Amino acid sequence: MLLGRRDFLRSWAALPILIGNSAKAESSEPLRVRASRHNRIYGAAVCTEQLLSNEEYRKVIVREAGILVAEGETKRNVLQPQRNVFNFSKTDAILKFAQHNSQLMRGHTLVWHRANPKWLSEEIVVTRDEKLLTGYIEAIVGRYRSQLNSWDVVNEAIEPDDGLVSGLRQQSIWFRAFGESYIETAFHCARAADPDASLYYNEANLEGDVAWSERRRRATLKLLERLISKNVPIDALGIQGHLKAYRVKYSDEVFSRFLDDVASLGLQILITEFDVADAGGPEDHVQRDADVASLTHRFLDVAFSKPSVIGCLTWGITDKYSWLSRDEHYRWPDGQSSRGLPFDQEFKQKPMWDAMVSAYDKTPI
Ligand code: G3I
Repeated sequence: MLLGRRDFLRSWAALPILIGNSAKAESSEPLRVRASRHNRIYGAAVCTEQLLSNEEYRKVIVREAGILVAEGETKRNVLQPQRNVFNFSKTDAILKFAQHNSQLMRGHTLVWHRANPKWLSEEIVVTRDEKLLTGYIEAIVGRYRSQLNSWDVVNEAIEPDDGLVSGLRQQSIWFRAFGESYIETAFHCARAADPDASLYYNEANLEGDVAWSERRRRATLKLLERLISKNVPIDALGIQGHLKAYRVKYSDEVFSRFLDDVASLGLQILITEFDVADAGGPEDHVQRDADVASLTHRFLDVAFSKPSVIGCLTWGITDKYSWLSRDEHYRWPDGQSSRGLPFDQEFKQKPMWDAMVSAYDKTPI
């Protein structure tokens, strides 16, 4: 049974959100409310450590986000550090928090070439034991059955630079062990373990107006077409949406066309990991904030103009804890924080937040 968009949005709309009776939106209204008013969702990636220890962080997440995803805690290196050792405590903590605050939660990610425990990476390419794939999905998806609203079943299976005609990531441990079939196996297994969860294929770098991004789009569409033609149970495409304001050209037309192509396959779309890297931009952070906001507005305007796009999650919520400040490719060499999320280091709304609000407010219902 597929969890259709209507069901998804119905479950979302049923959440007890405190919306005033006034039809006119107040400027202080949080993103989750703006989004829900337009039948869309807004959410954010969180980390357990901050949720458990940081009151300011907790407050902003409760106020703004209608759906949570773990930035790292639901990856295999955390959930199954040893062959016979599972550690659910961090994922459980986020789920408990989300349920307590009437928020949905999605799972990220079951099958990825990164964030695997060392024992698995070593074992799988030697034994090619399919149980190492299916047993894990059964255990994890089964444990959270009917509690997580969706799963990124497979993440980042495309890498055209690896040289295959299909554009699939040849270097992935999963491809090396099983070839392309690991993807369909994972989806079938996830559907059997939780028939209610929406199942996503999640991919990176799909929005750039550059040749290498076009190759990724083409390979992704071909993969989705193959999966659908084989009746693989896939419901949606997750577009990560890690934009690079000063490094990768973006075009509304190119992005719009891609969204239409995906929708024509009958899939829903969610922007799953949105942020805007400001590395390489001008020194003046006021100017950078304006540029980031302007790009945010353009990108989300195009996305939300499509009925197939059900919403957006940012990858974090405050610049204070953004991966962009930690990653060697995107961090500023002088140690200042990146400014790619809707709240700054002091948990203050930035122009990016206003841009997101405006994009949600303009969304046709
Ligand atoms: O857990 C250890 C901690 O114990 C230790 O003190 C610390 C010291 O550096 O490292 C911690 O682990 C790091 C973890 O993030 C938590 O901060 C890992 O080394 C690091 O590799 C991990 O990076 C995450 C990465 O995925 C790999 O899992 C990033 O935070 C996270 O933002 C990133 O998210 C990915 C999405 O899953 C997929 N799309 C791209 C996105 C950005 O790369």
